Amino acid sequence: MKRLTVPKLRARKVDGRVEEPLVMLTAYTARQAQLLDAHCDMLLVGDSLGQVIYGLPSTIPVTLDMMANHAAAVVRGSYHSVVVCDMPFGSYEQSPQQAFENAATLLKQSGAAAVKLEGGKAMAETIEFLVNRGIPVMGHVGLTPQAVNVLGGYMARGRSDSEAEKIVGDAKALDEAGAFAIVIEGVVEPIAIEATEAVSAPTIGIGASAKCDGQVLVTEDMLGMFERVPRFVKKYGDIASTIEQTAAKYASEVRTRSFPGPEQTYQPKSD
Ligand code: KIV
Ligand code: NA
Repeated sequence: MKRLTVPKLRARKVDGRVEEPLVMLTAYTARQAQLLDAHCDMLLVGDSLGQVIYGLPSTIPVTLDMMANHAAAVVRGSYHSVVVCDMPFGSYEQSPQQAFENAATLLKQSGAAAVKLEGGKAMAETIEFLVNRGIPVMGHVGLTPQAVNVLGGYMARGRSDSEAEKIVGDAKALDEAGAFAIVIEGVVEPIAIEATEAVSAPTIGIGASAKCDGQVLVTEDMLGMFERVPRFVKKYGDIASTIEQTAAKYASEVRTRSFPGPEQTYQPKSD
């Protein structure tokens, strides 16, 4: 299987629709990428790794180094999906120049194909600047977790007319700026549909609508790694119980000296 490309993914939306929705999951490690790769079109090295991997309270403290290291692992663990790397908070908002420098560093250090950054109209100029200089950009509108301190929480967006209008306008601005795809997160369904119909780039929904052009979830959320997840997550697995039960088995065998057994033990003479 040859690796997909950004233009191929972008071209999946023709005359305002995709024939088959695009599949994206987050990945932070090489082994995780290996297991997910064949099932996905895109692997997102999300800054959600701040909470999921590092136990941080939000994505705000995530650094460029953390993103570059995990993205490099995901590139090494995959050969099919397009790897998209989140730009962390503070690495792109100041100016198009700052964004280019840091996006270039991310791509050079990791081998990822594209970056994702959060924000609407205010980021359009930056997106155009990056795309014109060789860096494909995925947009992200609606509930943008890096803006948690401005938004005041992780509530669904687009419930008021003014907010709904802003979200659709933001999506259009990113589309015109040349974003190759746009994540729509935590938005009431009619607005997700309106935005999807208003842009030529594929939209990737999370807490949005089945009518988006693709879907993304945090892998650990959909695997059932966490007890509490947002309403928009569907748990397809129960990995937390599997890990707990497996650890309990190991602990019990260690405590009863039944592990290691003869199969796991070296003897001086093996014939
Ligand atoms: O960081 C992340 O995982 C994301 C997706 C949930 C869209 O941005
Ligand atoms: Na993110």
